[in-house]
Amino acid sequence: MAAVEVSGLRKTYGDLVAVDGIDLEIAEGEVLAILGPNGAGKTTTVEMLEGYRTPDAGTVRVLGADPQTGGRAWRERIGIVLQEAGFEELFTPRELIRLHAGWYPHPRAVDEVLAMVGLEDKADARVRTLSGGQRRRLDLGLGIVGSPELLFLDEPTTGFDPSARRRAWDLVDRLRDTGATILLTTHYLDEAQHLADRLMVVDHGRVVAEGTAEQLAASAGLGAVIAFRLPEGVTVADLPDLGAPASAVGQVAEVRTSRPTADVAALAGWAVQRGVELVDLTLTRPSLEQVYLGLVGTEAAVDAAGEAAPAEGVD
Ligand SMILES: Nc1ncnc2c1ncn2[C@@H]1O[C@H](COP(=O)(O)OP(=O)(O)O)[C@@H](O)[C@H]1O
Ligand SMILES: [Mg+2]
Repeated sequence: MAAVEVSGLRKTYGDLVAVDGIDLEIAEGEVLAILGPNGAGKTTTVEMLEGYRTPDAGTVRVLGADPQTGGRAWRERIGIVLQEAGFEELFTPRELIRLHAGWYPHPRAVDEVLAMVGLEDKADARVRTLSGGQRRRLDLGLGIVGSPELLFLDEPTTGFDPSARRRAWDLVDRLRDTGATILLTTHYLDEAQHLADRLMVVDHGRVVAEGTAEQLAASAGLGAVIAFRLPEGVTVADLPDLGAPASAVGQVAEVRTSRPTADVAALAGWAVQRGVELVDLTLTRPSLEQVYLGLVGTEAAVDAAGEAAPAEGVD
């Protein structure tokens, strides 16, 4: 049985359609990343799976239950890290983790959780003295203290500096190794690529692409680009038949092709036969980033890049 099964999920806020018919399935033990720009509908989707928001339409099964009616026993099997969480500012991380541990039948040891999220040094400091990144690590700790079978992580590393992000990635990798199913959202492509078995790209409340990173890169139809310097006295008109017409800027020819292997072979055969060298011959495949930008537009990318810089006072 799948850990999560969703079909036709929809949610509107007044005139705004935030989630516009999303289908998704997550196998047990799978790590799925929902990737998309701000406002794409990621949080709304995840919070409907957590039982925090009520869908307008669609069916949702999470660990075999409807989140709207899943009782305490269901909730104990799930770990949640919300995009925005509030804390009791006067407690310490150790106290909060211990408190949360008491709600679950099979909690992790408090010290183990503190170590897993790298908060040993701040275990006994009041929450109000923690930095933004340290608070986020506490969020992570509270999400995993109950040894969840299924973990929801809504933008777990937004605002982390690169080393804190690496540590969080290691933590997710370790949780995956324990067999946990994980649904995470992120607007960082590299994070989705690093952590997830499968990516689902959403934009404007719809799934615009889905698959492994390799499948997404391949499915985008951008193909590959072959480039080389045209030999002396040769124009693109002299080239052999290729999968797509070659163009040239000055002496540099370019072919954007969906059959790169055949075209490289044809070009190489042609050059060898004429006894000319294809100087600066390169074959470039589109990066996943280019594919992603093609799907969600560059505005979203600028936005994500802007947020990637660590904010002041956040570690
Ligand atoms: N409680 C709410 N009331 C009204 N609009 C909301 C509410 N929550 C989210 N939205 C809107 O729904 C859209 C999707 O938001 P959200 O699910 O938070 O996206 P994401 O998590 O991908 O950034 C956005 O346009 C957002 O402004
Ligand atoms: Mg969100």
